[in-house]
Amino acid sequence: MTPVHLFLLFAASSGRNEDSPREGNESRWRRRTAKRRQRVDALLDLIEAGGLPDLMQPKLTSKMTRGDSLVPTLQVPTSSKIKWEEVDPLLDPMQGGKIRDFERGMRKRAQVESFYYLLSVLIGAQQDSKASSKDSRITIIDAGCGAGNLVIALAGLLSSQSDNLRFLAVDVNQHALNRLEERANSVEECSKMLETCCADLGDYEYISSKIPLNHTAIVVSLHACGAASDMAMNLAFRCNKAPFIICPCCTAKSLTKRTVLPNTDETEKEYIEPFASFRRSGASFDIVYPRSKWLNSKLVQSNRIGIEEEYSILAKVADLGLGPQTSAEQRLTQRRAKKIVEFDRLLSASDNEGYSVRLMRVMGHDPLVYSKGDLLVGAEQGTVGANVLWINQMQHKRITAAIDGLGRMIQRISAMGRGISAEHVNKQDFSVDNFDSFVI
Ligand SMILES: C[S@@+](CC[C@H](N)C(=O)[O-])C[C@H]1O[C@@H](n2cnc3c(N)ncnc32)[C@H](O)[C@@H]1O
Repeated sequence: MTPVHLFLLFAASSGRNEDSPREGNESRWRRRTAKRRQRVDALLDLIEAGGLPDLMQPKLTSKMTRGDSLVPTLQVPTSSKIKWEEVDPLLDPMQGGKIRDFERGMRKRAQVESFYYLLSVLIGAQQDSKASSKDSRITIIDAGCGAGNLVIALAGLLSSQSDNLRFLAVDVNQHALNRLEERANSVEECSKMLETCCADLGDYEYISSKIPLNHTAIVVSLHACGAASDMAMNLAFRCNKAPFIICPCCTAKSLTKRTVLPNTDETEKEYIEPFASFRRSGASFDIVYPRSKWLNSKLVQSNRIGIEEEYSILAKVADLGLGPQTSAEQRLTQRRAKKIVEFDRLLSASDNEGYSVRLMRVMGHDPLVYSKGDLLVGAEQGTVGANVLWINQMQHKRITAAIDGLGRMIQRISAMGRGISAEHVNKQDFSVDNFDSFVI
């Protein structure tokens, strides 16, 4: 037997005991994962200490309030629900948008329905306002419109409510816009009131120059990945502090930084590759994370690995995909991180731009099952839009308080049924779907 044979024999026999390289790797991997989880939990605990910002406050400041940080589900009154079987099939994301997967299609319908309802409220309030003149009109900008599942439905459905509306569908991807135009051209209402604009969302000046002088703007954005959602928000600020309704996704994509500098000569502007998602969804120079003073100060307190690195942990955890294999614990961690990332965005709109803001969820979207259902809504404080949202914040707050006891009991039972321990329930924003608690 040669020394090589002896070594192989030893390796084979030792492979069966506990210290085998494979098992050693596995236990090292387990230890590392457990350590990573502990670090993430510690970070989330630190940020949540003292309570998350209460976005139900009328005048939002960075002051933390204890209280719960329940994120209400938008409840669309039955009278405002879309009867999909009665509308033009071309407006329906499942038929016109050809979304074949049933669950995905139903989710997209619910998203469209939520935007449609909030927009109807905002448009109605603006049109009823004494300040609005007879010929003042509204341009609704869909930022990151893709092939038009949101904007086509909105244009078709809202055309019957007002002839004062115009839609501007913006995307950096011309192919998607071509598909949108093809579909929109077959719908009479859309072809009259919808225009497309191929641009990077960070090109605020160019996009806002497309709004006629006698128009006010409202910015909507559905699943513009990563920093594109922040750009949609910044676009609203630049459009005369327009109200915004934004449903963000893919938070980790925000972490890529663009290289272009401000004031770059027009001819040398960075070309944003429309198909390279990490480029188009990366942060433009004007977007720095964390966005709010609140999260900044929390991450300074953490004092471990630097603010940027801490934020990048949050953004990555918030972006964790939820699948059948995801444990209840991971779902909770993802949810906690996502909520913090969205609060951070909203607080910056409130602190730096004087917006009244709120965080809601698309109806029917359970955040522990589907992570892309947060709705960020904002309007400049003191404006008609903010007032209409504010009145309803109060309504919601009162009713929520009244149902709180009962609601929590139901939440506890349903959460425990899903394998989530009772102690975690209070950290969650379980839906209040069962109650018609949020009525605009
Ligand atoms: C996931 S799709 C969503 C499309 C559509 N809103 C929907 O919900 O069906 C994201 C879209 O945002 C666009 N987008 C991402 N970053 C962008 C940017 N910086 N400027 C313009 N469009 C962008 C992409 O091209 C893509 O069409």
